[in-house]
Amino acid sequence: MTATAIAHPNIAFIKYWGNRDDALRLPCNSSLSSNLAGLETRTTVLFDPSYTEDRFVLAGKAQEGASLKRVTDFLDLVRNLARHDIYAQVDSANNFPAGAGIASSASAFAALALAASTAIGLKLSESQLSRLARRGSGSASRSIPNGFVQWQAGEGDADSFAYSIAPADHWELIDLICVLDSGHKTVGSTAGHALAHTSPLHALRQERVSERVELCRKAILERDFALFAELVEEDSEFMHAVMRTSTPPLVYWLSETEIILWQVKQWRKAGRALCCTVDAGPNVHVLTLKNEVDWALQELGKLPGVKQIYQAGVGQGARLVDEK
Ligand code: PMV
Repeated sequence: MTATAIAHPNIAFIKYWGNRDDALRLPCNSSLSSNLAGLETRTTVLFDPSYTEDRFVLAGKAQEGASLKRVTDFLDLVRNLARHDIYAQVDSANNFPAGAGIASSASAFAALALAASTAIGLKLSESQLSRLARRGSGSASRSIPNGFVQWQAGEGDADSFAYSIAPADHWELIDLICVLDSGHKTVGSTAGHALAHTSPLHALRQERVSERVELCRKAILERDFALFAELVEEDSEFMHAVMRTSTPPLVYWLSETEIILWQVKQWRKAGRALCCTVDAGPNVHVLTLKNEVDWALQELGKLPGVKQIYQAGVGQGARLVDEK
């Protein structure tokens, strides 16, 4: 009873921030993203009747405490679905370094959902897998389908899942992930979502976010970079405004984050196809088109605090790997 799966992280263009239901991870709003090609989590799950407890090994290191508990809780969901009472060993590794500022929970729970459900003998549809992955980390629901993805908020557990709106080769969008040296301890997104409701700006963002999802989806389908750029930046700024005005406030940006955001806006005004989005950390995802990449890499590399730049095109959905 074993299976191995690969999943990519994703970058949200219209963000998920705040839950209607924290336990079920039902989001306040729908969101849009694309998978990040080349960056991946590979996870093998082995269910074995001789095991007396779950084990979780990440990058060769046995995990304990909160990290193990999150995986064990997730495996409980899989066991409940399969009506099986059997423990597992989970081996997982990312091909991108921890601390690079690329959230790994999306690819981690997407790969785990696919590997664990397959290993235990379940044959889940894409939407069922997306719903399952969502329970581990909301954004993981978006790492299940291929390419450009929409996660519909839905009414409840049954219809809160993600689906592909366009395949990975629909548009040659590139994410240049500018890694800044933060040295900061940040509040993780699970705790962060719970604070969204304390911000007076949360309700204001919610008023307009469905409209932004619809417009951004149109911009992607029509490959309209100018419209896409405006919407992506507006939503990222709005989400960070919600974070900053929460109680306690969540401030993820560094001064170098601001410099990149400002500079990219100037370049766009001068006619370059570039825009920025920032997740729950200080690093900046600069979204651009293939023909701008060489120029952008050169210029971004000169900005203060930029330690490294990862380059990712649009990736596939989660998939099984045949290890034989
Ligand atoms: O899936 P989570 O709980 O790690 O939340 C992701 C939150 C953001 O990355 C900030 C936004 C998003 O939609 O991915």
